[in-house]
Amino acid sequence: MSPADKKVYKIAAIPGDGIGVDITEAAMKVLDKLAETNGTFSFEYTTFDWSSKAYLERGWYMPEDWATQLRTHDAIYFGAVGWPDVPDHISLWQMILPIRQQMNQYVNVRPTRILRGTRAPVSQLQEKPGDLDWIIVRENSEGEYAGQGGTTHGHAENAIATELAIFTRVGIERIMRFAFETAKGRRRRKLTMVTKSNAQRHGMVLWDRVFYEVAKEYEGVVEFEKMLVDAMTVRMVNKPESMDTIVATNLHADILSDLAAALAGSIGIAPSSNLDPTRKNPSMFEPIHGSAPDIAGQGIANPVGAFWSAAEMVRWLGKGELDTVADQLMQAIENVTGEPKTRTRDMGGSAGTVEVTEAVCAEIGRVCGKA
Ligand code: NAI
Ligand code: MG
Repeated sequence: MSPADKKVYKIAAIPGDGIGVDITEAAMKVLDKLAETNGTFSFEYTTFDWSSKAYLERGWYMPEDWATQLRTHDAIYFGAVGWPDVPDHISLWQMILPIRQQMNQYVNVRPTRILRGTRAPVSQLQEKPGDLDWIIVRENSEGEYAGQGGTTHGHAENAIATELAIFTRVGIERIMRFAFETAKGRRRRKLTMVTKSNAQRHGMVLWDRVFYEVAKEYEGVVEFEKMLVDAMTVRMVNKPESMDTIVATNLHADILSDLAAALAGSIGIAPSSNLDPTRKNPSMFEPIHGSAPDIAGQGIANPVGAFWSAAEMVRWLGKGELDTVADQLMQAIENVTGEPKTRTRDMGGSAGTVEVTEAVCAEIGRVCGKA
């Protein structure tokens, strides 16, 4: 293939804070190795220094024209944001949440399964790792994180604060449709809808109603059911094999996906995709973990969640044409997690971020048959 025929994907890289920096660098190395080995595409990165460290120095996270800058890219790769010196609601609301909202990334997809070599904390899953194979579809644009509410009387004794959850028919319908389509494309064709409509009698009732409306179109194609969120936590631990695709609100899915990651062995391996299914704006890919200040700067962060997120980015960019390449990357990752000497500490090993990254790069060469 001549260089002119090569597809170049423009990636906006936002490493952010703490281990976000290490794992973003690691992900770029792995993506470059994948592209180089394959030969039909390459990546061109713009790295943005939008972080809490920069915020403390200059007073802002992102410049005014941030949205315009991001829109010139095909995808966004995000590390993590948040640092102890800045209140978390500031870092979240000045960067990650505005990006998700303004880039219309109304779906957050969080796949979870037990990678080779991971130690699941629950004995059933240790014996039968295949029992946990889920896709959590999270509503990513409204609900409990809509950002509406306010505070009156500040820090006074009689302080009042409200936090308003917003549920719109449009917002619910589009996430339900995405979830049904996801379930339809999976082997088990099963969708579990998570709710709390017993206690929350307005927004969650609309959520349920729209779910059953959309479900009519999938009758006989996708098996579907409703679960209350509290009961769901029990079922995730006791009967993991009984679920496949899961759809939940912004808050519920945020919590459930951390539980899912823990059940699968470590928060350090879990990926997520923030998607604009209309493809009018770039989608954003990031591991679900945060900046991990407790281990930052030590070179021991697990980069596997970052690599898995990179694989999901490749899948999304390829629109069906790079699925094999994404699968090859996953294969390379699992060959590495399967080896005790190339596991990080959170997975019971002693390897560092750089060693795991080098091992995955070497494995990409082998898996793609061009070592
Ligand atoms: P965290 O995910 O950063 O860390 C939780 C625990 O898991 C820590 O003990 C950490 O060492 C460990 N851990 C996380 N990722 C790991 C990895 N790749 N390898 C090995 N161990 C790993 O969550 P925490 O401590 O609640 O939050 C820290 C900061 O990150 C906060 O400022 C928070 O707001 C922010 N945060 C940002 C997110 C984002 O950017 N999307 C998501 C979650 C948290
Ligand atoms: Mg979370």
